[in-house]
Amino acid sequence: METLKTRSHLAPLMTEKRWAIPIAMSSFVFAFLVITSLNIGSTMNSFFSASSSFNRTSPVFVESKLSSEPPLPRFAYLVSGSKGDLDRLWRTVRSLYHPRNLYILHLDLESPVEERDELVYRVGNDTIFAVVQNVFVISKANMVTYRGPTMVANTLHACAILLKKSKDWDWFINLSASDYPLVTQDDLIHTFSSLPRNLSFIEHTSRLGWKESKRAKPLIIDPGLYKSKKSDVFWITEKRETPTAFKLFTGSAWMVLSREFVEYCVWGWDNLPRTLLMYYTNFISSPEGYFQTVICNAPEYIPTAVNHDLHYIAWDVPPKQHPHTLSVADAPRMINANVPFARKFNRDDPVLDKIDAELLGGRRNYSFVYGGWCEGGGGACSKVGDVNKLQPGPGAQRLAKLMNRIVWSKAFVSNQCR
Ligand SMILES: *[C@@H]1O[C@H](CO)[C@@H](O)[C@H](O)[C@H]1NC(C)=O
Ligand SMILES: *[C@@H]1O[C@H](CO)[C@@H](O)[C@H](O)[C@H]1NC(C)=O
Ligand SMILES: *[C@@H]1O[C@H](CO)[C@@H](O)[C@H](O)[C@H]1NC(C)=O
Ligand SMILES: *[C@@H]1O[C@H](CO)[C@@H](O)[C@H](O)[C@H]1NC(C)=O
Ligand SMILES: *[C@@H]1O[C@H](CO)[C@@H](O)[C@H](O)[C@H]1NC(C)=O
Repeated sequence: METLKTRSHLAPLMTEKRWAIPIAMSSFVFAFLVITSLNIGSTMNSFFSASSSFNRTSPVFVESKLSSEPPLPRFAYLVSGSKGDLDRLWRTVRSLYHPRNLYILHLDLESPVEERDELVYRVGNDTIFAVVQNVFVISKANMVTYRGPTMVANTLHACAILLKKSKDWDWFINLSASDYPLVTQDDLIHTFSSLPRNLSFIEHTSRLGWKESKRAKPLIIDPGLYKSKKSDVFWITEKRETPTAFKLFTGSAWMVLSREFVEYCVWGWDNLPRTLLMYYTNFISSPEGYFQTVICNAPEYIPTAVNHDLHYIAWDVPPKQHPHTLSVADAPRMINANVPFARKFNRDDPVLDKIDAELLGGRRNYSFVYGGWCEGGGGACSKVGDVNKLQPGPGAQRLAKLMNRIVWSKAFVSNQCR
C-alpha cells in the first residue's frame, strides 16, 4: 500500500525531528517573544503552551513508530470555543482523547484571559497529557468572527500548526466546544484504518439555490481582520457577479479532511487555495464554502471527496440561523444516524450524560473514555499502555454501516462535486 511505504520512509525523519523541532521551536518562540514584548496587550505566554517542554522525549509517539504492525491512523483535532466555553470544551476534549492523536485547542480572543489561562493550566496539569504531549493550546488567541473569513483563517492556522508539529497524522477534524462524539476513539481509529487515507469527508453541492443571490453576490467586510474589538461583519452596497473562473460549492462547515488535502490548502504550491481564500474574504459564511470550492475545483482531489460531514445536526423546520439544540429526546435519531459526531449541545445537558453512559463506555466526570490504551486499574486510564491496542465496540459497527453507505457504494462517486 502506498500509505505503508510513505510511513516507513518517514520513520527516520521523525527521529531526526525530535531534535530539529526543539531548535526550530525555540528560535521561533524567542523571535516571537521579542515581538510580543513590544506589544503591550499580549499575554507573555509562549506561542504554544506546551512548547517549553517539547524537548522531553515523548515515549508514546516514538515507540509506536517501531511497531511492526500495520500502522493505524491518527487524527489531528482542532477543538475551538469562545467566551464561556471552557468547561464545555474541556469535556469534549476529554471525551475525544486518545494518545495516538494530536489536539489543538483554541479559545478565541473574545474569551477572557483568565479563561484561556485556565485552559493552559488544565492541559499542563493533566498527568496523561504531560506524558504523551499531544495536546496543545493556541495561547496567542485569534479574533474569530462568526460567518466571517477569520473563521476560515483560524481553521487554516490550526492546520498549519498541526502540520508543523507532526507529519504523522492522517485526518484533520474540525470541532467546536458544542460538538460531542457518539463513538469512542477506538471505534473511530478502527473504522478509519480500513479506509484510503486520501479521503476527505466534506458535505457539498453546487446547487446554490437562494445562496446565489444571498451569499455569492453580496460583499462583506470582516472587521475581525483588522480591529482589536470584536464586531460583526458588515455589507457593502456594491455586488459582484457569480464567478466564471471556478465553480462555487457550498455545504457544511464541519469536515474531516485528509492530510494530503490539508497540505494542498496550507502550502499553496498550486495557486487555487490561495486565490479562493482571497475571494472568500468578502463572502458571507465562508466556512460553508471555502474548502468545498477548493476541493471541487482541484481535479486531483475531486475523486477523494466524500459527500458527508460525519455529523448529526438537526435543523428546525423551517431552518433557523442556528441548528436545533439536541436533547435526550433526540438520542434515538442521533444514534441511528451512525455518525461519529453530533452537535449542538448545551453545556452539561443530560443527553451528554446519556452519551457518556451508553455510547462512551460509561465514562464519568470528564474522565477519559476507556480504550485499549488504558492502564492503571479499575478502568481509570491513569497510565498509557499500548497505544496500538484497540478495543472497538458497538460504535465501530455503526460506523461501518455508515461507511458502507457513503464510501463503499456507488453513492461515493455519484455524489461527488455535483
Ligand atoms: C530541554 O533540554 C535541555 C538541554 O538538553 C534541558 O536542560 C532541559 O531541562 C530540557 N527541558 C525539558 C523541559 O525537558
Ligand atoms: C495539578 O494541580 C494540583 C493542584 O493544583 C496539584 O496538586 C497536582 O500536583 C497537579 N498535577 C500535575 C500533574 O501537575
Ligand atoms: C470549523 O469549526 C468551527 C467550530 O468552532 C466552525 O464554526 C467553522 O465554521 C468550521 N469550519 C471552518 C471551515 O472553519
Ligand atoms: C486514493 O488512495 C487509494 C488507495 O490508496 C488509491 O487507490 C486512489 O488512487 C487514491 N486516489 C487519488 C485520487 O489519489
Ligand atoms: C466527580 O468529581 C467530583 C469532584 O472532582 C467528585 O466530588 C465526585 O464524587 C465525582 N463523581 C464521580 C461519580 O466520580
